[in-house]
Amino acid sequence: MTDTFEAPARSLPRARDTFSPAWRYVLDHSMGLRSELDRMRRHAPFYDAIVDEIDGRRIRIGDHWLTDFASCNYLGLDLDREIIETVPSYLDRWGTHPSWSRLIASPVPYDEIERSLASLLGAEDALLLPTITHIQLSVLPALVGTGSLFVEVHAHQTAHEGAAMTAARGGTVGRFREDRLDRLERRLRTAPFPRLICVDGVHSMTGNGPPLAELLALAREHDALLYVDDAHGFGVVGERGPAESSPYGDRGNGIVRHLGESYDHLILVGGFSKAYSSLLAFVACPTEVKEYLKSAAGPYIFSGPSPVASLATGLVGLQVNERRGDELRARLHRLTSRLLDGLRRLGLGTLNTSGFPIVEIPLTDPDRADELGRYLYDRGVFASVVPFPVVPRDQVGVRIQITAANTDAEIDDLLTVLGDAAARYPLLPVGAPPAG
Ligand SMILES: Cc1ncc(COP(=O)(O)O)c(C=O)c1O
Repeated sequence: MTDTFEAPARSLPRARDTFSPAWRYVLDHSMGLRSELDRMRRHAPFYDAIVDEIDGRRIRIGDHWLTDFASCNYLGLDLDREIIETVPSYLDRWGTHPSWSRLIASPVPYDEIERSLASLLGAEDALLLPTITHIQLSVLPALVGTGSLFVEVHAHQTAHEGAAMTAARGGTVGRFREDRLDRLERRLRTAPFPRLICVDGVHSMTGNGPPLAELLALAREHDALLYVDDAHGFGVVGERGPAESSPYGDRGNGIVRHLGESYDHLILVGGFSKAYSSLLAFVACPTEVKEYLKSAAGPYIFSGPSPVASLATGLVGLQVNERRGDELRARLHRLTSRLLDGLRRLGLGTLNTSGFPIVEIPLTDPDRADELGRYLYDRGVFASVVPFPVVPRDQVGVRIQITAANTDAEIDDLLTVLGDAAARYPLLPVGAPPAG
């Protein structure tokens, strides 16, 4: 992890001057976020990278080997031989892709996954769609109609895009902060019905959970529904118990079970694209709501379904989860604790207060994010660098995601590199508040 590497300069097509004005109107459309992403994509080797080879959690980009701390394959199921070897039998039986929209027909594995999921989550029922992005854009507007939607300001971008769609369909949309629930309560009192509050389960940058009990109390008092996007909690955290295999709890059945809450007034959304390394997502809800969504959520009616390989990895992933998931989560917890303890010893702060496997290390000078990213890349660390305005200025930094497929040695090497980085870049010291 110590070799240095100079990324080849990117040469992007220069045909723009010969474009017709029709293209120029498109390309000259300016947006703050777009221009920052454009800049990073063009200059940073850790954006828009093409990976030539994978070997465990090591990846090769050109002739440079790095350790991958940027994937969300938390349980390491992307590399699991049992799962990989089961896929061909599903392809033999079902072909590569059902290609019916779900409204027309679905192969049996859909039904099997929905039943297994509902039982794992302890929910009444579950509906599968290809991605959480599809769900945010279609299920949010379908649930809210001309009622009101309150989205937590730091919720994932896809929730805000779902909110824009909800507004376009006639809903009233507002934002709130989870540390100012008093303000949300005042607005809820007069908000039109149906009322829906939308939050992330485990936040994708901080790695922390929401104040679920308080949010649910508010929802129940004001006849609202709490919509929880548990993209990063499902598969990673689960129900607690005296014999639990780690503080992440058991079974990976999500943040709601982890925090000991029920699904009363709650709709849980989750996905397989992180802990399960597959392309599927779900809404856990009462059967009557599922039936309503079948004729109200666009992707169920109009979109192509997940490919059969994803149905296979989802279904077998759930079986592996029942047998070996707790062992994988215990390992994930141990590796994450090794990193968090190491950071503390180095005197480095993180936004993570939960111990979950998303560890954001902020910079006190948000303008130096891509310099830090390049240093880590050169030292063989592949991590997500998150600049402003992709995240608020106090969250700018580098995000490390641990998976059960990482090794102790990889965590120790990462800590060595982060220790060296701390001598060069203004990383947040332990105990200090993030930059405002
Ligand atoms: C909190 C959160 N919600 C939703 C998504 C999108 O999930 P999907 O890939 O299933 O569309 C992500 C992806 O990173 C996420 O972090």
